[in-house]
Amino acid sequence: MHLSTAEQQRLKSRYGSWALITGASSGIGKELAERIAEAGLNVLIVARRKALLEELAAKLRTQYRVEVLVVEADLGMPEGIQHVLQSAQALDVGLLVSSAGFGTSGLFTESSLEEEHAMLRVNCASLLHFTYHYSKIFQARKRGGIILLSSMVAFQGVPYSAHYAATKAYVQSLAEALNLELKPFGVDVLAAAPGPVETGFSEVANMKMSMALTPKDVGVPILQALGRKTTVFPGFLTKLLVYSLRTAPRTLKVRIMQMVMGGMTEHQRKG
Ligand SMILES: NC(=O)c1ccc[n+]([C@@H]2O[C@H](COP(=O)([O-])OP(=O)(O)OC[C@H]3O[C@@H](n4cnc5c(N)ncnc54)[C@H](OP(=O)(O)O)[C@@H]3O)[C@@H](O)[C@H]2O)c1
Repeated sequence: MHLSTAEQQRLKSRYGSWALITGASSGIGKELAERIAEAGLNVLIVARRKALLEELAAKLRTQYRVEVLVVEADLGMPEGIQHVLQSAQALDVGLLVSSAGFGTSGLFTESSLEEEHAMLRVNCASLLHFTYHYSKIFQARKRGGIILLSSMVAFQGVPYSAHYAATKAYVQSLAEALNLELKPFGVDVLAAAPGPVETGFSEVANMKMSMALTPKDVGVPILQALGRKTTVFPGFLTKLLVYSLRTAPRTLKVRIMQMVMGGMTEHQRKG
């Protein structure tokens, strides 16, 4: 899917001239980087796997004639975050996309506390740092956009992926509140809450997805929603899943999620 010319112009005029995209080496972040570059914004792309970022950078430079800055950084480390901010210091960043993140699954008591802390640092602490930094800059300038990757798991507890879902509840709550706080200053904040998407995510999280969207299904709807919605549920499958659960009481939603995630992580408990 591609953005219409009008949508590309809207993105560029409201959020140019640079976009900073974390998690751009793969999946949803990579797709967003492509669509944003296609709209004519220069992009600063961040992740740990430099070779993948370089490959994407070469493609974006040739295909869309934009400037691309590659920043290799581990966002689980304070030095990684500082490195990104320093690299971006001289750039006119008007759009932040915080897509870097990963999940874990299985019984909470069998998880590695170290890995759960690492997930908290990437999914929440680094996102907080970038959001805080650019909120202040965008507020002073009275323009800017912030897209935070939440998830449909953010809206209730999710047994067998309890802590991952909790990190996404944090992101969702922060985005909803900032959307209203920053609106009077001309700054748009969006929570993007996809359902299952076929990316590198499921392998890292050790989850088996039976149905999933592709990054191409979710990139355009996310960008179209920026400045128009507080939360976007991108893709048909996401809407179907979210709306079918909408009227269920929260306690029932947790039970349903236990069944769904139970199926996705069953292989772990069978050994
Ligand atoms: N896929 C889904 O079903 C789904 C659904 C809802 C929400 N989400 C959210 O969407 C976001 C993107 O996930 P995805 O599905 O696109 O998965 P993905 O393909 O695995 O991409 C994750 C990205 O995050 C980066 N990342 C992970 N740990 C990092 C670290 N320590 N430092 C820097 N970068 C790091 C990865 O880059 P490197 O490995 O190169 O560092 C990669 O670019 C995540 O926040 C995820 O929670 C995903």
